[in-house]
Amino acid sequence: MEKADDAGVYKLTDDLAIVQTVDFFTPIVDDPYTFGQIAVANALSDVYAMGGKPLTAMNIVCFPSKTLDISVLRDILRGGIDKMREAGVVLVGGHSVEDPELKYGLSVTGSVHPKRVLTKGGARPGDKLLLTKRIGTGIISTAVKGGMAGEQVIKSVAQSMAALNKTASEIMLQVGVNACTDITGFGLLGHACEMIQDSRIGFRIHSASVPIFPETVEFARMGMIPGGTNRNKEFRSKMVDSAGIADVMLDILFDPQTSGGLFVSVSADKARLLLARLKEAGVTDAAIVGEVVSHPKQRIVVE
Ligand code: CO
Ligand code: CO
Ligand code: CO
Repeated sequence: MEKADDAGVYKLTDDLAIVQTVDFFTPIVDDPYTFGQIAVANALSDVYAMGGKPLTAMNIVCFPSKTLDISVLRDILRGGIDKMREAGVVLVGGHSVEDPELKYGLSVTGSVHPKRVLTKGGARPGDKLLLTKRIGTGIISTAVKGGMAGEQVIKSVAQSMAALNKTASEIMLQVGVNACTDITGFGLLGHACEMIQDSRIGFRIHSASVPIFPETVEFARMGMIPGGTNRNKEFRSKMVDSAGIADVMLDILFDPQTSGGLFVSVSADKARLLLARLKEAGVTDAAIVGEVVSHPKQRIVVE
């Protein structure tokens, strides 16, 4: 536990370890079926980030049965099961409690070869940094709550959050990468900071190369910034050099994500191959967003 990784890994034999993780949260979209899909994609993501293969899952449900119709829960679970089926994960049980606030998620068990576990450490100077999904889901969700977001952007954000990191994970394992994490509540820069803390490396991030949802900049300018953004900034700003970067862009780079993409450190000679394979396989938003440097150490320079 000295360096918290995305999921817990427990070695069973020389060639088999289990990967365990748990994640659940309150709805971030109105449609129950879509929420179920997103919650499952989000819960499985930590296993994919560590190079594991999720095998079984258990539902975690908190439901206000006195105020919400049971059909809502049925639709959430249906969305969840469909997403598990897509992932090849078997639902083996679960637990539900009465709760005034609806929550849904999973406890997940997967497998990984003990020598092929991918962690947040392991990035090397000269590596390229690659991100597999767009960012801005926190800002867009805030705009949705404020009734500001249009149908099109709501749909594309929901689609992205419901997309499994399965394909991206399989391809990065085929190509071979040095480090990986998934982008969630701490935002792109927050999770990037976890990869360089207590290390001998630093990151350089090209803000213009970071894939962002359309309208994110516009909403951020209008002040549609979730509370988590400022907490993320306060927590990590000492490690980030962002002179010359617009405040709005910094907010986006610290925007808390739900079911975000994988953030991968890959050697420079493999980076183009990895990007091409991802795009071929339909991970079309993937982009190279920066590189690993040996100086300045434990700092992120945003350009
Ligand atoms: Co994670
Ligand atoms: Co998690
Ligand atoms: Co029980």
